[in-house]
Amino acid sequence: MSTRVFVVVVALLSAVLAATVVGGYLLWNRGDQGAVVMIGGPFTLVDQQGRTATQDTLKGKWSLIYFGYTYCPDVCPTSLSVMTQALDALDPAVAAKVTPVFVSVDPERDTVEQLALYHQSFHPSFLMLTGTPEQVRAAAKAYRVYYRKAESDSATEYLMDHSSITYLMNPDGEYVTHFAHDATPEGMADTLRKAVGG
Ligand code: NI
Repeated sequence: MSTRVFVVVVALLSAVLAATVVGGYLLWNRGDQGAVVMIGGPFTLVDQQGRTATQDTLKGKWSLIYFGYTYCPDVCPTSLSVMTQALDALDPAVAAKVTPVFVSVDPERDTVEQLALYHQSFHPSFLMLTGTPEQVRAAAKAYRVYYRKAESDSATEYLMDHSSITYLMNPDGEYVTHFAHDATPEGMADTLRKAVGG
């Protein structure tokens, strides 16, 4: 290959690489902004005391929202414990500005009574929500949460597959950030302090 051809080939490869990097960045950036807009929305559910709860119930406070089910053997209790410990680590005045929310994706077993029982194991400010299967489906859709009943021969003993993400929403009900399943109480508390202030 002559030097001249080599230079042309290198220049072409550089141009392709630059286009890929810039294009990828633009796509990623747009995707990120799209996600901000898409998470959250209207819902109608019922809390652990039998009171109706909607998106307006959460307005005026920050909320930490997690979807799961009370019969979950490990993932959900861990996530709710992390949320509880994060709130306990905050100054009470800051913690008071945050509502931790648990939304059941297993409305058949997670009755109001079951949620009231489950509530005793976690932070007292928890709002625990359930509803009809249709109401739960609509809420999960609004928050882009995936869930599915796992195959089982039993009508009462089964597992639910579900996403394990904790969303932080601002007092206007807008998505701020989220925590993955491996979030620590310390990390979550730090993020909350920075976001909520005080
Ligand atoms: Ni779970």
